[in-house]
Amino acid sequence: MSLPAVSKVAFGGDYNPEQWPEEVWAQDYQLFDAARIDTVTLGVFDWALIQPAEDRYDFAMFDRIVQRAADEGRNVCLATATGAHPAWLARAYPEVTRTDFEGRKHRYGQRHNACPSSPVFRRLSRELARRIAQRYAGNPAVVAWHVGNEYGGACYCELCAAGFRDWLRKQYGSLEALNAAWYTTFWSHTFTDWDEIEPPSALTEHWRGPDHTAFQGITLDYLRFMSDALLANFLDEKAAIRESSPDLPVTTNFMGMYRPLDYHRWASHLDFASWDNYPPDDTSQARMAFTHDLMRGLKDGQPFWLMEQTPSCTACRDINPVKRPGVMRLWSWQAVAHGADSVLFFQLRASRGASEKYHGAVIGHAGRADTRVFREVAELGAQLQRLGGSTLGARTPACVAMLFDWDSWWALEISDGPSRLVRYQPVVLAYYTALWQAGVDVDVVPATADLSRYDVVLVPALHMLKGDLARRLEEVATRGGSVLATFLSGRVDENDNAFLMDVPGPLGPLMGIRIDEWDAREPEFVNPVRLESGTDRLDADARLLFELVIPQGAETVGTYQADFYAGTPAVTRNRFGSGHGWYVAAGLDQEGVSWVVRQVLADHDIALRYPDVSGLETTLRVAPDGTRFLFLLNHRDEPVEVTAGHTGTDLLTGTQVRAGQRITLDARAVLVLRTQ
Ligand code: GLA
Ligand code: ZN
Repeated sequence: MSLPAVSKVAFGGDYNPEQWPEEVWAQDYQLFDAARIDTVTLGVFDWALIQPAEDRYDFAMFDRIVQRAADEGRNVCLATATGAHPAWLARAYPEVTRTDFEGRKHRYGQRHNACPSSPVFRRLSRELARRIAQRYAGNPAVVAWHVGNEYGGACYCELCAAGFRDWLRKQYGSLEALNAAWYTTFWSHTFTDWDEIEPPSALTEHWRGPDHTAFQGITLDYLRFMSDALLANFLDEKAAIRESSPDLPVTTNFMGMYRPLDYHRWASHLDFASWDNYPPDDTSQARMAFTHDLMRGLKDGQPFWLMEQTPSCTACRDINPVKRPGVMRLWSWQAVAHGADSVLFFQLRASRGASEKYHGAVIGHAGRADTRVFREVAELGAQLQRLGGSTLGARTPACVAMLFDWDSWWALEISDGPSRLVRYQPVVLAYYTALWQAGVDVDVVPATADLSRYDVVLVPALHMLKGDLARRLEEVATRGGSVLATFLSGRVDENDNAFLMDVPGPLGPLMGIRIDEWDAREPEFVNPVRLESGTDRLDADARLLFELVIPQGAETVGTYQADFYAGTPAVTRNRFGSGHGWYVAAGLDQEGVSWVVRQVLADHDIALRYPDVSGLETTLRVAPDGTRFLFLLNHRDEPVEVTAGHTGTDLLTGTQVRAGQRITLDARAVLVLRTQ
C-alpha cells in the first residue's frame, strides 16, 4: 500500500463547506469544475460538528458534505477531524489541555493543543477516527485518510512526565544505564528512582528557553519522547482506521523542516508522506526544493503529496504578501518536479471569520471566478489536466545524497558552545543550494539510509554520529565515491557525549585530519579562506566557526588567511580507498561552499544541468515505464534563453524541442519535457 489511487496529479485542497450555508456549495462545485479541481480534503476540524457531546455523534451534516463531494465526482482525502478538540472535552476533562514549557497549565483555546499522553484524548480521538472510518471507508470517493493535522508542539504535564519515565525505562532498562547516558555524575545529578526524573523545562534543567539546558541528554530524550508521544496519537487513529479500512493509504500533513518532530522516526508509519509548503518569503526557492527532497526522502524516494500551500497569501505572519503573478503556478510545478503527485491548496473556499478570514483561498468571500487568483488556479488546473497521469509514481534518479538528521539538529542547537549562532538549517541549506545551483538531483536522506547507490554524499554539520554510519561513509569512499563533512560533524555519540578521541571522532580516518581546537567569533568577524585547486582559485569569506585542522594525510584545498592560524588548512581533501573524504572546517560563505561542492562533483561523471544560469532550476523524474520528465523552472522575473540538452515534447504546450535548439523560458515559466 502506498500512494492514493488517482489517475492524474491530484488537484484541489482543504474544503470546509460546514463553515458556509449550503446554498453556496453548488456554486463551489461549479467553480471547482471550472478550475478542474478533482480532490477535496474534508473534515480536518470537524470534531465538534460530528461529536457535539461525549455521548452523541451526529453525522447528518458531514454525511451531506462527503456525499456531495462523491456525487460531484471528486476524490476525497478524508480527515479524522482531530485537528482541534471541542470545548466540551476540555471542560469535562481538564487533563486534555497541555502544560507548557514554563509550567503553565493551559485552558481551552486554539488548536493542535491536546496533551498527547492524556488517556482521555487518546480514547476519544481514536473513537472518532474509528467511527469516521467505519462510516466512509466503503465510499469509493475516499482515496486517502488524513490523520490529525500538522502534529507539533510539546507538553510538560504530569501525564507526560509519567509517559517520559515509561519511555526511558524501555529505552535504558536500568537507571544505571540512564545515568551513564545522561552523564549525571556531572553536578551531582545521579538519579536513584525513576520518579525523580522531571521533564526538562523552564522549571527544571533549562536556564534560558528551550535551547539552553544544563543537561543535553535529558533534553534530547524529551524531544525524542515527545516526537514518539505525538506519533502514538497518529498510530492510535491509524489503527482505528485500519479496523474498517484495510487498504486505503493513511498520511498526516508534515511541515517540512519542522524541528520538534523527527519525521524520520515517523516515516515508516505513514503509507505516503505529505506536507504543507508555506515558505517564509518568495526568495526561498532552494529551501523549498530542499524540503521537497527531504519529504521525498522520508519514504525512500516514493513520491509524496503536497497537501497544502496557499494560492495567494497567508494570514498568520505579521506581513502577508500575495504570491506575484505566475509564482503559485511555478511553485506548484516545483513540487511536482521534486516528486509531488498532488497539488493541493489551503483552502478552496475562504473562511468567513476568525483568524484565517484573510488567508488566501481559491474562492474568496464573494464567490467570483473573475479574480486573478482564481484565474491562475484554473490555468494550472488546465495544465495538470493536460499532463494527466504520466508523472504519477515517477522517481528521481539522484546519485548525490545529503544526510539530514533531526538528532544532529537538536544536539547542535541545544549545545552550550562553541557558538549559538551556528544553526543547523543554514549550514545544510548552503550545501544544498550549491547542488541546486549546479543542477543536480539530490536525495535528502536519513543517516540510516542505504548509501550504496550514491557517488557523492554530503554530511553538513552532522554533529551526532550514530551506529555504523562512519563505516558506511567509508564504504562510499572506498568504492570511489566522495564524502563531504563540515565543521561540527562527528562530535558526539547518540547520547550527546563526546567521543573519547580526536575530533572529528569516527570520521577522522576518512577525513585524514584531526581538529586541534575550534574558535567561534562574532558575526562581523571574517577570516578569508583561499581556495585553490590546480588553476582554479577563489578567495571566500568564512564566519562564525573556525576549526583548526592538523592534516593526518589529507591535502589542503583551502587555507585561512588571518589570525594566529593564518596559513593553516580550512578545507581538506583526503584520498580514501578509490575515493575521497572532504572536510570544510569553517563557515564558508555561499560562494565558497559552491566552489568546494563543484570540486567534489568534478571528480565524478555527474551531468550538471545549466550550472551557470542562475535562477533556472531543473530536475528529472523517471516514470515506472521508463519515461523521463525533465523539468525546467525559471525562477527569475525575466526570460532566460538556454540550449536544450534533450529532444522531447513540452507537455504543457505540445511543442517539440530538439537537442541543441535554443529555447526561451519566459519569466516564471515552466517547461516539462518528456524525453525518451
Ligand atoms: C496550516 C494548517 C491549516 C491552515 C493553514 C494556514 O497548514 O494545516 O489548517 O491553518 O496552515 O496557512
Ligand atoms: Zn501532557
